[in-house]
Amino acid sequence: QAQAATALAHPNIALIKYWGKSDERLFLPRTDSLSMTLDIFPTTTRVALAPGAGHDSVTFNGAPAPAEAHRRIVAFLELVRERAAREVRAVVDTVNTVPTGAGLASSASGFAALAVAAAAAYGLDLDATALSRLARRGSGSASRSVFGGFAVWHAGLRGGTPAQADLSSYAEAVHASARLDPALVVAVVDAGAKTVSSREAMRRTVATSPLYEPWARSSAADLADMRTALDAGDLDAVGEIAERNALGMHATMLAARPAVRYMSPASLRVLDAVLQLRRDGTAAYVTMDAGPNVKVLCRSKDADRVAAAVRDAAPGRPVHIARPGPGARLLPG
Ligand code: DP6
Repeated sequence: QAQAATALAHPNIALIKYWGKSDERLFLPRTDSLSMTLDIFPTTTRVALAPGAGHDSVTFNGAPAPAEAHRRIVAFLELVRERAAREVRAVVDTVNTVPTGAGLASSASGFAALAVAAAAAYGLDLDATALSRLARRGSGSASRSVFGGFAVWHAGLRGGTPAQADLSSYAEAVHASARLDPALVVAVVDAGAKTVSSREAMRRTVATSPLYEPWARSSAADLADMRTALDAGDLDAVGEIAERNALGMHATMLAARPAVRYMSPASLRVLDAVLQLRRDGTAAYVTMDAGPNVKVLCRSKDADRVAAAVRDAAPGRPVHIARPGPGARLLPG
């Protein structure tokens, strides 16, 4: 049995958003979601069993992990130990290239890498479905980073037992036509930590926003349309659906009590630049997550032009170009 394992995973950006849980402990979402895994900002995590140690130790880029991240990782390891029927503690070392707290979902690549590495280190033999289900328990969006390319995460069965719901909520790969050839231009409008955590913002939105249920219903229709558009390789349709789904999600938050607003003045300048690109005939569509950063979906051949327009709109801010990336995997050694 392996005593140490290292895994690599990439972040994903949802084109149909996950926003709202039906079970916070099990990380069960209220709606299905669909994402593209990126080829930038990977997370590498090594899990080494530490016989005799009285507690887990966790580092991020060589320094002790912040308290909240430490707590979430230890809770996740408890779950893995329960499955493996072992008590041995672990040393977890994570090297993260994602700007943390910038709305780029470092938790997705982080928990996908941790799930793959911890399962291997503790000797659990899990297939991709089981790894996705496990990663979900660390952070919902991590369930999707187990897969490369495009992935759909099923909300799972409603109305059954918690065990049935848990088993039925996992991600799987989704087919996209090679004609799609997409790029995602990521404008890091503000790399600082976000003000309201996505967990708290989701909770508040579901509990208080009169727009939440209508959005959740329309999101189911968006997902069906999105699958058709991906299959056809229709980038304009993919972009239009992603943009309306994301802006709708932000509308649910703006209507929460009190409101949650992640868009900053710089975000809006990027949104305007994207509208101008479209008026000028370039296919470009926005999506935004729990932060002020803007991700612009476009054709791969247009990525440099779109990045230049975004840089003009948000001078001095980092802009990255991503393309579809690989799923989570174990690294040798
Ligand atoms: C806006 O997966 O970070 O990025 O499950 O509470 O860890 P937890 O939340 P998280 O939420 C991601 C929300 C989102 C949309 C998405 O990725 O689908």
